[in-house]
Amino acid sequence: MRADQTIPKQKPRIVIKLSGSLFGLEDTKTLKQFAEFFVRISKICQPIIIAGGGKIARHYISHARSSGADESTLDEIGIEVSRLNAKLLIFALQGMAYPHPPVNLKEVANAADSGLVVVTGGLHPGQSTNATAALIAEKVRASTFLNATDVDAVYDSDPRKNKYAKKFKKIPLKKLRGMLVHQESVAGGYDLMDIVALKVIERSKIKTRILKADIKTLERAIKGSPEGTEITLA
Ligand code: UTP
Repeated sequence: MRADQTIPKQKPRIVIKLSGSLFGLEDTKTLKQFAEFFVRISKICQPIIIAGGGKIARHYISHARSSGADESTLDEIGIEVSRLNAKLLIFALQGMAYPHPPVNLKEVANAADSGLVVVTGGLHPGQSTNATAALIAEKVRASTFLNATDVDAVYDSDPRKNKYAKKFKKIPLKKLRGMLVHQESVAGGYDLMDIVALKVIERSKIKTRILKADIKTLERAIKGSPEGTEITLA
């Protein structure tokens, strides 16, 4: 390379875990709107998206569990559904996305190097797509990990059940871990974050936010606005 040549600057990579609830909707408009948003935002960053399994995954998991399937098989069913969800978004992105959901971390990294929008589902049994998203953020050296869920932030109790629930703008990772310790570690039973996700966020100091899976909120967050709840590492 000549001394006056510079390596083209890579766009910051933003890892977005997209709530599985978006994929189980009757309407076909919402995913198309998300796809248009990802194409638009890809001018300033490279979105790397992890699709959740949502209620369709939970439906399959509970059917198979009632027939006696073991937990790791149930996890694999959840992974398959999240990959189907990822494919729906890939189709909606119409050629702007890497053409299929990568199936392991190495393939995610190679897909990210293509410069295209990358959409994947789960990767390994025994964890949630949140943990997968944290591992991907670590692998691709993402500037930010946005966990886009069906609630707008972390609360001290479930805001759907308690109208006095207190919302956190920031929450120390250790405190969030304490709140999650009693969560069920069974297929289909992971919630906002799981312990594996927190471990990865902590060891690689990944800038992480939990926020509403809504286009305007995501756009503001990508542009630096303090949306939802920030997980602090201090
Ligand atoms: P999700 O983690 O997406 O669960 O995957 P979820 O709670 O439905 O997510 P949201 O909130 O709707 O977005 C569904 C199931 O697939 C398995 C787990 O059993 C998980 O509960 N899974 C997923 C894995 O085992 N490994 C993965 O990497 C991802």
